[in-house]
Amino acid sequence: MLPSITIRTLYSNHKELGGQTITLKGWVRSVRDGKAFAFVELSDGSIIKTCQLVVDGEKPCFETVKHLNVGAALIATGCLINTPEARQPFELAVETIEVEGESHPDYPLQKKRHTLEFLRTISHLRPRTNIFQAVFRVRSEVSFAIHDYFHGLGFVYAHTPIITGSDAEGAGELFKVVTSDPKHEFFGKPAGLSVSGQLEAETFAQAFSGTYTFGPTFRAENSNTPRHASEFWMIEPEMAFCDLEGDMDNAEGLIKYIIKHVLKSCSHEMEFLNQFVDNTLIERLNAVADAKFERMEYTRAIELLEKVKDKFEYPVKWGTDLQTEHERYITEEICKKPVFLINYPKEIKAFYMRLNDDGKTVAAMDLLVPYVGELIGGSQREERYDKLIGRMRETGLDTEDYRWYLDLRKYGTTRHAGYGLGLERMVMYVTGIANIRDSIPFPRTPGCL
Ligand code: 4AD
Repeated sequence: MLPSITIRTLYSNHKELGGQTITLKGWVRSVRDGKAFAFVELSDGSIIKTCQLVVDGEKPCFETVKHLNVGAALIATGCLINTPEARQPFELAVETIEVEGESHPDYPLQKKRHTLEFLRTISHLRPRTNIFQAVFRVRSEVSFAIHDYFHGLGFVYAHTPIITGSDAEGAGELFKVVTSDPKHEFFGKPAGLSVSGQLEAETFAQAFSGTYTFGPTFRAENSNTPRHASEFWMIEPEMAFCDLEGDMDNAEGLIKYIIKHVLKSCSHEMEFLNQFVDNTLIERLNAVADAKFERMEYTRAIELLEKVKDKFEYPVKWGTDLQTEHERYITEEICKKPVFLINYPKEIKAFYMRLNDDGKTVAAMDLLVPYVGELIGGSQREERYDKLIGRMRETGLDTEDYRWYLDLRKYGTTRHAGYGLGLERMVMYVTGIANIRDSIPFPRTPGCL
């Protein structure tokens, strides 16, 4: 490897590095050549910004530059010149250029702006565009912030299985895992791809107290919406000796931690997104980072929604699941900030949620945020053996399949709680990107691999 420097380093240290000979490695974004000079815009992926290479017509490499196509990979060496008067604070006066890899003239990413729909058709090349440089760097920093938050709290990171024998959410959205001979039951019983690592994470909570999973999750949900993917990443913390309030406190802390980290570590990317995707993004996120999130009973939310029911396509009444239009109305119009809705009717929630004393609702919480809707789903868990087995039977589950899960309630059960945060929804929230297909490198949605 040649000793080289990144464009990110230049943006922070160009004043000290001015006048020195440096080497940059990256890909050509654009080339302009005149008689006396040629200009190459180079991106190296270290930052959303580019560096301008200036090639004097007298230099031997001028000929090479004249034949360069957009997309080519280069190694350029030259003198760093500070240009305080110009649009870019510095440029590289090139001495030598080595073409690491040519690019064909039919390279699809030419100078013009492409639509996100078009870019989805070239997911192998879209990371090279400004918008995806921003989105995928933010995604990476969001992931780092999540690990950092839980690490700071002393939580143990649990790797829960991807191939499982249980549909944890009981919603029948399991992708089956079979071998090329579907008659052969490889694992001795039906297996599927995990819809949630929660049940396994609960085993770690009863041993480490604080734990979290962070992994790929699969749902064979046939909902072709801008917020659902068949493969997405989910973060699922699980905490022993914790109730619903503690659960919400942890979730609120996480969301604020992620937002603050991204605003700090991706300032250039966030400015770009603020300019080209959503002009209110940075202001909105700053406000959320300092706001106290609302906490509202499901029953109260229904009362408020019933008052404006004519606004909605879907009917709204106590006992029904909320549609996105309802969730967005609550967070965007009623609360105007993130809101935890709590204590949902038991019929619309999973079997493992703790039954409240009213016998009708469970200690569930969903975090709803403006623009995205549901960002988090969680609950206090049913830690009482008899109650849990009762709920399993009510919902038609075979208790034999959940023997180990029930055991946790026999041996030192604790009040405990947890939640699931969808990584892609979080990325959408902090980038302002409106379609989940643009928040994950290779989206998997119904009919689309
Ligand atoms: O509300 P969900 O289904 O909750 C669970 O799976 C629980 N086991 C979590 C827990 O308590 N440990 O999903 C949690 C979150 C949602 O709020 C959403 O952000 C995301 O996962 N999510 C999806 N994201 C993209 N595409 C889908 N099809 C998603 N389904 C859920």
